[in-house]
Amino acid sequence: MRHVLLLLAYMTGSHALDNGLAQTPPMGWMSWERFRCVTDCKDDPANCISENLYMTMADKMVSDGYLDAGYEYVNIDDCWMTKTRDENGRLQADRERFPSGIKALADYASILSILVHSKGLKLGIYEDFGTGTCEDYPGSKFYMDIDADTFAGWGVDMLKFDGCNSGISDMPVGYPLMEMWLNKTGRPILYSCSWPAYFVVEGKIPEYEKIAESCNIWRNYYDIQDSWASLKTIIEFYGDDVGNFSKVAGPGNFNDPDMLIIGNYGLSYEQQRVQMALWAIMASPLLMSNDLRDIADASREILLNKNVIAINQDRLGIQGSRIFKMNDFEIWTRPIEPTGSVAFSFLNLADSGTPVKANISTSGLELDMHAVYNVTEGFSGSVVGTLTNGTFFTVGVNPSGVFLGKATKIA
Ligand SMILES: *[C@@H]1O[C@H](CO)[C@@H](O)[C@H](O)[C@H]1NC(C)=O
Ligand SMILES: *[C@@H]1O[C@H](CO)[C@@H](O)[C@H](O)[C@H]1NC(C)=O
Ligand SMILES: *[C@@H]1O[C@H](CO)[C@@H](O)[C@H](O)[C@H]1NC(C)=O
Ligand SMILES: *[C@@H]1O[C@H](CO)[C@@H](O)[C@H](O)[C@H]1NC(C)=O
Ligand SMILES: *[C@@H]1O[C@H](CO)[C@@H](O)[C@H](O)[C@H]1NC(C)=O
Repeated sequence: MRHVLLLLAYMTGSHALDNGLAQTPPMGWMSWERFRCVTDCKDDPANCISENLYMTMADKMVSDGYLDAGYEYVNIDDCWMTKTRDENGRLQADRERFPSGIKALADYASILSILVHSKGLKLGIYEDFGTGTCEDYPGSKFYMDIDADTFAGWGVDMLKFDGCNSGISDMPVGYPLMEMWLNKTGRPILYSCSWPAYFVVEGKIPEYEKIAESCNIWRNYYDIQDSWASLKTIIEFYGDDVGNFSKVAGPGNFNDPDMLIIGNYGLSYEQQRVQMALWAIMASPLLMSNDLRDIADASREILLNKNVIAINQDRLGIQGSRIFKMNDFEIWTRPIEPTGSVAFSFLNLADSGTPVKANISTSGLELDMHAVYNVTEGFSGSVVGTLTNGTFFTVGVNPSGVFLGKATKIA
């Protein structure tokens, strides 16, 4: 019976996403990649999925400059619930690990922001489209209306809606249905869909234009793991752009290649710079999954780099693309403001131990031969020089490293 009602509501209520959110790629912190599903707080009180973990990360986001840099969402991932719904069918947070409840966490985030007179820290939460989450907690199937209402009531600002324990054929109807229920709550909630990822995993090309009508951001590839190998496969998937998903990105809608793993165990310094540079070029959400209590200064500096964040947050919201690939060397460009300018990456995926040399030129970057560009290095902002059709600059690109640049059109 509930099922029929939900379907009727969908048929009469279909409409396109218009919640005003994600005008630029969202930025924040998310627990999954680093903290997974550790639920034994007696054994590991500092790292278990608990209100203590999220409050501590919220504190660090404020005290260590992440919030000021733009990282505003603190996102709960899987394993926050009890294994059953309450007597009214509502989701409930695990009572031992979240004794104050989710609403208290949302309140904590807003009070913290008020105390430091900073822009708002926001709370994100996780659920699943199917009958159960990926870690087998209760899923939203048959309960989407109640769950949307619960999240809004708690003061949640973002929802990651996973796709375990379901079938892809239900997704083109079910994901838009949840968007409708979120909209009906009246609370703007940033909607992150895992819908296309489940298509890609099954070898199918998702209908990205339809997805962008319902979702602010969407995962479209395998989960990131804490390794260079994992990072490379994601970058290659985005370079290949099968299904032309890059074209669908724009203010309000972004492809999500998954969390930033900068500051964890798996990447070298150069490889951490690669992730930050490429996530900027790809207009990707910047959702860190790391331990902000214990992070190297060098990693923190990469994450807080204002110049790179500015490229990521460019208001045109155009996703960059790979325009050249030969063996392990790639050139990526992203149109940015002011009109006619680009951010670019020379990417060296090789692990042979010496930097490769590459030329910055108008032809190599497919720029206007008649224009003049001011070229700066993307991390430091230092001036490389003035580029015209006649000039070029040779730079070195380190092994498993990147040269990030900006060519600003000045004439
Ligand atoms: C709901 O959708 C309508 C139109 O599609 C839009 O104007 C409104 O801002 C949305 N509200 C929320 C809370 O997302
Ligand atoms: C992607 O775009 C190219 C042209 O830009 C087109 O030839 C191709 O069919 C498109 N592929 C898909 C899956 O839409
Ligand atoms: C850079 O361009 C110059 C002039 O065309 C050329 O002599 C040089 O070999 C190029 N270097 C690389 C690494 O392509
Ligand atoms: C750009 O430079 C090349 C080689 O120097 C030259 O052949 C070409 O005419 C120039 N193009 C323009 C538009 O100036
Ligand atoms: C190039 O950009 C740098 C950094 O923004 C700036 O200081 C410099 O004046 C610019 N040069 C030109 C020629 O516009």
